[in-house]
Amino acid sequence: MRIGNKRYRTIWDDSREYASVFAIDQNALPFSLNVIRMKTARDVYTAIRKMSVRGAPLLGIASAYGIYLACVEARKKGLSREMAEEFLKKRFEMLLSARPTSINPEWAMRVVLDSISRYNNIDKKTGAALRTVRRLADNDAKNCRRIGIHGKKLIADIYRKKRGERVNILTHCNAGWLACIDYGTATAPVYLSAESKLPVQVWVEETRPRNQGAKLTAFELKQMGIPHTIITDNAGGYVMQKGDVDIVLVGADRIAQNGDVCNKIGTYKTALAAHDNGIPFYVCAPLSTIDVSKKNGFDGIDIEERDEDEVRYAMRGRSKIELCSPGSGIKNYGFDITPSRLITGIITERGIIKPDKKSIFKIKK
Ligand code: MRU
Repeated sequence: MRIGNKRYRTIWDDSREYASVFAIDQNALPFSLNVIRMKTARDVYTAIRKMSVRGAPLLGIASAYGIYLACVEARKKGLSREMAEEFLKKRFEMLLSARPTSINPEWAMRVVLDSISRYNNIDKKTGAALRTVRRLADNDAKNCRRIGIHGKKLIADIYRKKRGERVNILTHCNAGWLACIDYGTATAPVYLSAESKLPVQVWVEETRPRNQGAKLTAFELKQMGIPHTIITDNAGGYVMQKGDVDIVLVGADRIAQNGDVCNKIGTYKTALAAHDNGIPFYVCAPLSTIDVSKKNGFDGIDIEERDEDEVRYAMRGRSKIELCSPGSGIKNYGFDITPSRLITGIITERGIIKPDKKSIFKIKK
């Protein structure tokens, strides 16, 4: 996708700078476009912890790059085969612990580790790891585009029913290209509709407390020339009651086998409001986000609890502004569970499915 006139992906490696991985620093957006450089698995861990890279699919690819960088480190250190295996295991665990809720890091790292397991030689492991991560990144971009193609059909249907009037989409958090490699999940149908000249408008819920909607989704839509309006999280229901929302599109961090969806905190309330107003509510996610080991959304998904300072303070440049009554307790849950009964469908790269066990097992086969 574009920032200004330049095409970007969120993360890339540069063969001229061997063993360096680069990513757009999401903490600096929308005010500056900074690129971070990662040379070790620990650098990747730090970038994830600080949320310089974030969003489920991107967390997956970044963690996969972390395994590649760990191979490079093991080679540089001249570790024996056993010691290299031990080192990679420790780095896998470290990266896994960075953000607990999304399934994508574990999935992507396991794909990389599987792809290198047949090599004894660390040089070969390193080369194979890099090839696998690049393939995963390319696949993520392709899958998001496919999600866009399937989602665009829903938007085109609404457009026809509205006899050529603009289609209003509501989204929560940032499930855009910044959270992935390219296109995004929830934004892909929007970008592909705009490419086909379907008139769309996006309501962007700000997504307290880190404001991924207001800062990131709004930024990327603006860069792509998509009409959009930021609203507070509390306003979503009212906008729906007014009849100004035709469809809700959100992303996912983990989807259980029964179709329950774990996503950014506030998604559940948005889904309740959509349900009450008879508005279709779709979750856009690649199949890699489906975790069939979880029976339902409450089957032990680790919901990240974040620092209370994210709620207590707003940042203005480098200074913090206190927003809350000092001394009061704060809980900062990062994610919630939307039960499948509130979800109209899941838009995957292989088509739109019902959020139920039968459809999920069928498509995951
Ligand atoms: O805490 P974040 O910003 O990493 O949370 C991101 C979300 O919840 C996204 O909506 C989700 O990862 C889907 S990304 C395509």
